[in-house]
Formats: sequence, structure tokens, C-alpha cells
Amino acid sequence: MSRGQYPSTRMRRNRNRAFSRRLVAENRLETADLIWPLFVIEGHDIAEPVAAMPDVFRYSIDRLLQQAAKAVELTIPAIAIFPSIDAALKDDAGSLARDGDNLVCRAVAAVKSAYPDLGVICDVALDPFTTHGHDGLLDQGEILNDETVEVLCEQAVCQANAGCDIIAPSDMMDGRVGAIRAALDAAGHQNVQIMAYAAKYASGFYGPFRDAVRAGASLGKAEKSTYQMDPANSDEAMHEIALDLAEGADMVIIKPGMPYLDILARAKAEFGVPCIAYQVSGEYSMLCASFEQGWLDRERTILEAMICFKRAGADAILTYFAPKIAVLLRR
Ligand code: PBG
Repeated sequence: MSRGQYPSTRMRRNRNRAFSRRLVAENRLETADLIWPLFVIEGHDIAEPVAAMPDVFRYSIDRLLQQAAKAVELTIPAIAIFPSIDAALKDDAGSLARDGDNLVCRAVAAVKSAYPDLGVICDVALDPFTTHGHDGLLDQGEILNDETVEVLCEQAVCQANAGCDIIAPSDMMDGRVGAIRAALDAAGHQNVQIMAYAAKYASGFYGPFRDAVRAGASLGKAEKSTYQMDPANSDEAMHEIALDLAEGADMVIIKPGMPYLDILARAKAEFGVPCIAYQVSGEYSMLCASFEQGWLDRERTILEAMICFKRAGADAILTYFAPKIAVLLRR
């Protein structure tokens, strides 16, 4: 293609009028691109604010259903449900994770029975359920891989039994996607999808989330860097994604979001599979803190962040701003 030069080429001509900017826009954000993460807690009529996450609450199941109704009304395709477990119900092994009557399973069943067409996604990882706050089983300071995978398989089957549409393993154990696929199939859940947190980094940006699911205090200063990825690495993310796809992942998550757009762009270009970006809790907190100070313009900055995810190659975005964005897109 010949690319002319100034003055015959004036890049500003296409940008000059609003109608023209619309015509030449290469990417567009739709409500269909959004996944809304929601926190659930035991009890009735509870909406407990999450520190560092303005407008984000831990909802009891009855109140979660109101949020699910809102998702449906706004035509958000799917929600992701994360449980905040009572400290008294946690143990070293995260045993509650494989109890088919646990909080997350009851929440999924309630949402699916009220709104069967709303997509429901569940994390597979032990951190909300363990006293030590790690995603896997801990033995003398070490996270056991294969033993953890067995528990994760049970957790995934419980969630699928409860009606979960998409299982999202976020634990970063080796071999878990293949094992979970086999376990789901053996339990008759061939159509339950797997959205693998394939490229998940050991990140400081998860801080507010750990508070939301009450895993932060348990984890303390401990690190997840023996299983989550080193932020210095990019080739390794491609390797992780290739493995998860080979093991049967239907889509992959790249996480965190905005500081990792290079990983997202590479993943989309190299694999051409559905790539989901997660704008994580710390990114949400940073933006909200700036909005509250009046340092950044709320609507403009949120929408810009979203279109950047799209441009980098995201097919969908997990974001705590989902309902706000859906409202903005309606206008
Ligand atoms: C649990 C999990 C985490 C997040 C999603 N699933 C935290 C972690 O790995 O420590 C982070 C989400 C966010 O920060 O918004 N394995």
C-alpha cells in the first residue's frame, strides 16, 4: 500500500468530524464484551462494602440476585461469583471448596434458577477457603501441585453440578486444566466451558480482591510466586497458554489487565483464541481513588481503558465497572 505524504496526506482529515471518527474507528466496545465479578457472603439482606473498592459490596445471596437481575436488565452476558468465607469455616485443606452445598454453589444455583440465560462463571482455586490464604494445599511451606489438582477437580464438579456455565481455574497449578476437563466430562458436564487463567501473574494489583474474599489477612506477607507468573516474563505466558489450550481450555484469561496489554496482544496474535482481559481489583481501586480526588475524569477514563483492552485483542473484559459501563453504553 502506498502511503502518501503531506500535504496530499493529511491524517487529521479523517479525524475532523465526529461522523468520520465513528466511521474509521477500528474497535468498538459493546455491553456484550463485559463480565461482571461479584462477591457473595452468608446471611440475609447484606451488602457489605469492600475496603478500597468503592461501590463494590459483598452481597448475601438474596441481594446477589438483585445484582443478577441488574446484569440481565443491562444485557451483561455473564457474571463471575467469588465467595467471601467466614474464617470459622476455613481449614488448611480448604475442605469447604469441595462441598456441593457451600456458599458459592448455593449462590450459583440461586442465580441460575432465577436467570437461566445469564452466564455464570466460578473461580477454581482454594484461596477463599484456606486458613493460609493460598490457592493450593500447603505442606511445610510448599504448595503441593498434584494433590491440589485433585481437590480442584472436585471443586469444579461441585460448581458445575450447581449449574455453573464456565469454570475458571485461577490457581495456576500445572496440569489442572486437563484434569478438570476430564473430571467434568466424567461427571457428564461436557458442555461446561473452561476459561483458564492461563497467564496469571504474581501481582500486587490483587490486594483489594484478597480483602474482598477475606483471604488477605490469612495470606499476610506470603507470596504466590511459586505458582503465579513472574511479571518479568512474556514468552513464559505463551508457553502457559499453549499448555492450557492443549489441555482443553475454551478461552484464556490474561491477568492483570492494563499493565499487561503486551501479553494480551501477543496471546491474541499467536493463538487466535478467545482472550479475556481481567481489569483487576487494584486497577479498579487506582482509578476510583483518582476519580474521588477529581484527578481523572470518571466516564472518559473508564471507557478509554476498555477500548484499550479491545484494541490489544480482548474478546471480553472482566471489570468491576461492568454495570456502570453498560449504563454509559446505553446512552
Ligand atoms: C484467586 C483469585 C485472585 C483474583 C481472582 N481470583 C487473587 C489471587 O490470585 O491472589 C484477583 C482478582 C482481582 O484482583 O480483582 N485465585
